[in-house]
Amino acid sequence: MSPVRFAFARPTLGSEEATAVQAVIESGWVTQGPKVAEFERALADYCGAAHGVATSSCTTALHLALIWSGVGAGDEVIVPSMSMIATANAVVHAGATPVFAEVDPLTFNLDPADVHRRITPRTRAILFADQLGLPADIDGLSAIAKDAGLRLVEDAACAIGSSYRGQRIGTHCEVVCFSFHPRKVITTGDGGMITTSSVEAAERLRRLRHHGMTVSDVERHASTKFTRESYDEVGYNYRMTDVQAAIGVEQVRRLPSILAERRRLAVIYDAALADHHRVHTPLVPTGVEWNVQTYAVRIDGIDANERDHIIQDMLDAGIPTRPGVMTAHREPAYAHRGDITSLPVSERASDTSLALPLHASMNADDCALTVDALMTALDRVV
Ligand SMILES: Cc1ncc(COP(=O)(O)O)c(C=O)c1O
Repeated sequence: MSPVRFAFARPTLGSEEATAVQAVIESGWVTQGPKVAEFERALADYCGAAHGVATSSCTTALHLALIWSGVGAGDEVIVPSMSMIATANAVVHAGATPVFAEVDPLTFNLDPADVHRRITPRTRAILFADQLGLPADIDGLSAIAKDAGLRLVEDAACAIGSSYRGQRIGTHCEVVCFSFHPRKVITTGDGGMITTSSVEAAERLRRLRHHGMTVSDVERHASTKFTRESYDEVGYNYRMTDVQAAIGVEQVRRLPSILAERRRLAVIYDAALADHHRVHTPLVPTGVEWNVQTYAVRIDGIDANERDHIIQDMLDAGIPTRPGVMTAHREPAYAHRGDITSLPVSERASDTSLALPLHASMNADDCALTVDALMTALDRVV
């Protein structure tokens, strides 16, 4: 058994982030304050969105976005099962029921036709993910939401830097939620952001993330007049810290070069796997620009067990990989629900996908080693 030759994922961080964090520490203001506001402005500007509301994670961003969308007890929200379980969990956190819909097996994104079939009188919203950073069929989902009078919430946890129909992700829905977990394209350690074009949404979301408080710490600090705050609804502590936001500001500056590097590595993988009859490289639909957040291949003629053998075999050769995308409905947290039927397309897509290592610390030789190890492992399971 060899040690891993390189990491599966690794954030791109450097002395700029370290210096920015040191400055925050020396400033004495470490929780949500001026740096969070600066990061919000920088990210919203990057996306072309009017407002950004930073949160402690994408999961908490999704929770707030659902509350803002009016989702609550007794409602159903249509979500992909084939997504990180946080997508479905956010619906439960909002007191509603996730209704799982199928995905397109080639893109792993929600299938609008299946979403349409699952609408009931209790459906309040559609929460879709841009899986692995690849924008979903936003036009198709928007048309369904509009027709049925449903709110549309975008789980863009993985999609910072991707574009749909020439516009960066962050502007296509009323509320769009990003993640800055270290496996994402840019990171703040942990963290999230909601972008929105609505000033009312931004203001309410800012209150909700800070216990429902009507006056922010920055406003209070800057004011020479005593202002007593009020708490008009029950809020949460979903704040990001200024320490995290300082990293975020530097990460937004780095984003173009990080994207260029990820796309360069994806081209190397694409070329190396192009002619393989059983391994399919990620499909990028027309009108979509992909940030290559996770490079997952689809493998014909295997089952989940064989895919897991490939992962172990590659790990034994020192190459770390991961299963492509999980399904939430088969996890004990949801499987106990009597009403969830099988989702054959999602299950098959999940069981036969494999994410390859990809990050800026890798080079072309690392990609070649990964492809060689995949070929060897694949030959062994057939
Ligand atoms: C599609 C999707 N949604 C939500 C999340 C949750 O993000 P966070 O860890 O920032 O809460 C993830 C994280 O992997 C994700 O991939």
